[in-house]
Amino acid sequence: MEVVIAPPAELARLAADAVEAVLRSRAAPVLGVATGSSPLAVYVELARRHREQGLSFARAQAFMLDEYVGLAADHPERYRNVIEVELVSRVDLAPGAVHGPDGLADDLPAACAAYEAAIVDAGGVDLQLLGIGSDGHIAFNEPGSSLASRTRIKTLTRQTREDNARFFDGDLAAVPEHCLTQGLGTIMEARHVVLLATGRAKAEAVHHLAEGAVSAMWPATVLQHHPHVTVLVDDAAASRLQLAEHYRQTYAGKPAWQGL
Ligand code: F6R
Repeated sequence: MEVVIAPPAELARLAADAVEAVLRSRAAPVLGVATGSSPLAVYVELARRHREQGLSFARAQAFMLDEYVGLAADHPERYRNVIEVELVSRVDLAPGAVHGPDGLADDLPAACAAYEAAIVDAGGVDLQLLGIGSDGHIAFNEPGSSLASRTRIKTLTRQTREDNARFFDGDLAAVPEHCLTQGLGTIMEARHVVLLATGRAKAEAVHHLAEGAVSAMWPATVLQHHPHVTVLVDDAAASRLQLAEHYRQTYAGKPAWQGL
């Protein structure tokens, strides 16, 4: 696991570099995309590269991490609609290239199984962008999630619903209680994981992620078992890291050719 501590704008550029490398090197690139605020600057940077440098997403497919259950098809906070606004509308992804678990399906378990199969059919995820919850969740794998879990229905914790109420005009009651989410086992199959975290509210979760014991109580810690994880954090999110100085020195001395 590589930890890079840098200002937010640089983190976004680094994540966009990693996405760009996949788009340019793979014949049929498969991106894993997150919603929430953490990846927004990355999407802005990718849109800029598309607009100004011709970076093309035309051969790519994208798989979302999760979706609320039961939000109306036209609800602005439905993750399918969020990713449409934040990424799809700004680049040249082909129609039908973005996939997400169907939170409006009549048969939710079948929708979860179909989603797992679709990821496999696409050849698996080359690069997965992730955020992290203040309670250590990734996707919507809340504390207590099986470290081997697959795409399934989960109940959101009160903490996560409170954190996300900001997207629902502060109305906690409007935040759905259930979601469909890729499991930790699903995420672990992505070939490269790039996790972004900024702000002090993420500091404890980031400390556990990189330096804590692997435990279902801090679901992101499962990534310690992944062979290729890049953790991109700003000073505030890095403020609880015991080895922060070591990460800074390591990154400062890293050869430019090495990439993420
Ligand atoms: C979003 C997702 C969540 C968020 C996490 C952090 O698709 O899966 O795990 O990444 O809740 O959210 P932000 O980035 O809004 O702090």
